[in-house]
Amino acid sequence: MIEVDLSTTIADVTFDGYIMNASGPKCTTFQELEAIGNSQSSAIVTKSCTKEFREGNVEPRYADLPHGSIQSMGLPNLGYQAYIDMIPDLKKFNKPVIVSVSGLSLADNLEMVKAFQNTDADMIEVNFSCPNIQGKPQVAYDFEQTENALKQLRAICDKPMGIKLAPYFDMSHTTAVANIIKQYPVEFITTINSLGNTLVIDPITEAPVIKPKGGFGGLCGEYVKPVGLANVRAFRELLPESTKVIGVGGINTGTDAFEYLLAGADAVQIATTFEQQGTPAFARIETELKQLMQSKGYTKLDDAKGKLKQL
Ligand code: DHB
Repeated sequence: MIEVDLSTTIADVTFDGYIMNASGPKCTTFQELEAIGNSQSSAIVTKSCTKEFREGNVEPRYADLPHGSIQSMGLPNLGYQAYIDMIPDLKKFNKPVIVSVSGLSLADNLEMVKAFQNTDADMIEVNFSCPNIQGKPQVAYDFEQTENALKQLRAICDKPMGIKLAPYFDMSHTTAVANIIKQYPVEFITTINSLGNTLVIDPITEAPVIKPKGGFGGLCGEYVKPVGLANVRAFRELLPESTKVIGVGGINTGTDAFEYLLAGADAVQIATTFEQQGTPAFARIETELKQLMQSKGYTKLDDAKGKLKQL
């Protein structure tokens, strides 16, 4: 059998594989990031950080669901300086390090991005779509804020930079965001974040399954895969080839990863499945993807990337 080459390139940074962890689960502490370094994940992506350390929201703030998860973590993280300090040790794993930044204001994001500019982080993913902070609407749903933030961030950042987008459900919104990105180009987008402000109720307890924000939280996993696929596909068609698309949302099998490839993803990230299964999930999904591609006679990502057929 011919080996399948899953290497991919984003902004001149080469990734040995197509599959990496998503910012979110098990990527907050050095021990967790070290475990990702030792795994088959093709990059190390850090938990979205804020200027200061945060405990996050009250517990229970995460619940497994039959087909995914709901969470309202509230940005628990060590504060950005801790991640700056870790970068030299994370770089020892010889894979790209992507830092995720999720300031509580544009000023915070500008300050953190400036600071990460002077590190060996390979890329910066600025999170425009955290749904779980009370009183802080998602930047990605406010196009004026999105434009202003991107304009100012782009002006100070010459490292490869991407933005983590919320899911969009109307093509006028997707087009509006793509037009902003075309004006202030980023090297990549990561899409989708969780479906914000959903509610899961336990009929036995007659209460929500998580506590923060009255039970409203981000829906993740298999439930959101069709939304993720559509957002990847739509942005791939709207953005220039120079803006790479990292797909996230409900990837649990090699087949799921392959569907994202057909939609046009340059790489994919794993969140809920990593939370539920730990680091072995990366190697399992990669093996499954390689086997599926081999069975179809594909030997590299470009054989199928973006090649979704029409009926
Ligand atoms: C959190 C959730 C998100 O979906 C996100 O993008 C960033 C942070 C959180 O609750 O910690």
